[in-house]
Amino acid sequence: MKKILIVGAGAVGTSFAYSLIHKGLVEEIVLYDIDEKKAKGEALDLAHGIYFTKPVEVRAGGLEEAKDSDIVVITAGAKQRPGETRLQLLDRNISIYKDLVPEIVKNGFKGIFLIVTNPVDVLTYFAYTFSGFPRNRVIGSGTVLDSSRFAYLLSKHCDVDPRSVNAYVIGEHGDTAVLAWSLTHIGGISISEFCPVCGRRCFDEDVKKAIIKEVRDSAYKIIEYKGATYYAIGLALVNIVEAIVRDENRILPVSTVHPQIFEFKDVPLSLPSIVGRNGVKKVLRVKLTEEEEKELYNSAKFIKEAIDSFSS
Ligand code: LAC
Repeated sequence: MKKILIVGAGAVGTSFAYSLIHKGLVEEIVLYDIDEKKAKGEALDLAHGIYFTKPVEVRAGGLEEAKDSDIVVITAGAKQRPGETRLQLLDRNISIYKDLVPEIVKNGFKGIFLIVTNPVDVLTYFAYTFSGFPRNRVIGSGTVLDSSRFAYLLSKHCDVDPRSVNAYVIGEHGDTAVLAWSLTHIGGISISEFCPVCGRRCFDEDVKKAIIKEVRDSAYKIIEYKGATYYAIGLALVNIVEAIVRDENRILPVSTVHPQIFEFKDVPLSLPSIVGRNGVKKVLRVKLTEEEEKELYNSAKFIKEAIDSFSS
């Protein structure tokens, strides 16, 4: 019996639920929101569509539903306003997490936390500390979405199917995100080998810089246009949940709290990780170029300083 509790029935939580009901992955989806009517309305609206999708029970519920849930997905919290950084949400969202996470644990939850609220890396750290759960069972959506944006942009530039692009963004889900070009392949061919054949200069410095900027600025641009992002993150969450529910051993750049990265202890960031039934099975601290290592250092330092500034 696979049961998911989604905490937060806002645009991200409901886009995730909507994407999930098409997959036939789980038997139960429960929506919790501090606004009970909102959760009830969203659940009913989704339930009325199940006739067209796959059998699944969708309903609104309380945090006591965490008891027999396999995964609790936390999307609750303030969202970025135009021009606002993800880190600027920390004060508002940590005040939600410091009560919410212990409440979920108190209700008997023994599954896997999937943290989505921004700043997702820092909140993954605080969900880890507030819950007392092992590292492998507190997962942040991290740079899974950034990696899909990177793959999309490369696919457009190189005129190939995005599914033929295996692109990695690692580090912070934010302004210090690291586009790991050295880990990125198109059709199994490394970018450096593919580009001379492709002939579209995707590895030239000016093109790389433009793609890096576009990935890092995507959320700001979409928020400016329509006020929030939710469809792509909803689909990214389905990917992560699918890897867990089907025990896929899928390699995804999710965010977890690493015992030590460089000199930083207990630092949450995204690295390619093997994801399965029990959460993260193994983190792949792969070899990067010198430049990528420097950027990852900068990302780790930025996140650690954000945590320390709050904890002090
Ligand atoms: C974004 C949000 C999920 O990058 O942080 O769209």
